[in-house]
Amino acid sequence: MAIDVVRSVDELRTRIARAGRVSCVPTMGNIHDGHLSLVKLGLQDAPFVVTTIFVNRLQFGQGEDFEKYPRTFEEDCEKLEAAGCQMVFHPDETVMYPEPQVFMVDPPSIANKLEGRFRPGHFRGVATVVLKLFNMVQPQSAVFGKKDYQQLHVVRHMVRQFSLPTRIIAAETFRAADGLALSSRNRYLSTAERDEAPRLGQALREVKAAVEGGDRNFEALEFAADALLARHGWHVDYVVVRSRRTLLQPEADDKELVVLGAAKLGTTRLIDNLEILAP
Ligand code: PAF
Repeated sequence: MAIDVVRSVDELRTRIARAGRVSCVPTMGNIHDGHLSLVKLGLQDAPFVVTTIFVNRLQFGQGEDFEKYPRTFEEDCEKLEAAGCQMVFHPDETVMYPEPQVFMVDPPSIANKLEGRFRPGHFRGVATVVLKLFNMVQPQSAVFGKKDYQQLHVVRHMVRQFSLPTRIIAAETFRAADGLALSSRNRYLSTAERDEAPRLGQALREVKAAVEGGDRNFEALEFAADALLARHGWHVDYVVVRSRRTLLQPEADDKELVVLGAAKLGTTRLIDNLEILAP
């Protein structure tokens, strides 16, 4: 295999010392076309892309899927190499957390809403590992998918507040032909659930179409999307329209919006979102 796989920080630093501009694509592995689209964006920004693969225990809550999260390292490297990525940084827990991680990045209160309300501590774990990864790789840019919209928001805010020298590049959500946003968790779906799964995106598209048509009765639109999904067997955590800038309730004149949804199909929890430009 030609792709360079490094597992320690010393090795990483030595090997990228002469790489020039570096772009980083942080992942938890189980690489799919969505991740490869992030690599492509990274390569447009820098000649050298480091993809990190680390399943970060800190961002999983109790009862979540840390143990069963798909680990497919060999296939991941093949896909990344074919996409033109030059290096995979694959630290194990002793490299990432050589001692218990007691200093944590404590994100602001938005991290306790939306995903944070259903996954307490999640963004604390994400922000902490992303800061560590940035310190290890020291990239000039890093690519994050809009699929995890709130994660992107938290990371951007952290980069601003800590004056990190890494430019954050946002990648559009990569979708299957039927509209389902690609996610490593899609592989948990049964065949019947996989057939049903695009409905989450459809429900969000209906909200987007209504708001772009001038409807600002967000509560009614959210309720209708929730009811549609519930009728088809989903357990909805939230479908909400928010300001893109703050992820809070939109102000009356806020035009740059996003509709975000999270719902469970059987035991699999899916998230999706669509940006909206209101008239
Ligand atoms: O989006 C992910 O895969 C993870 O949350 C990230 C950014 C790699 C941090 O573990």
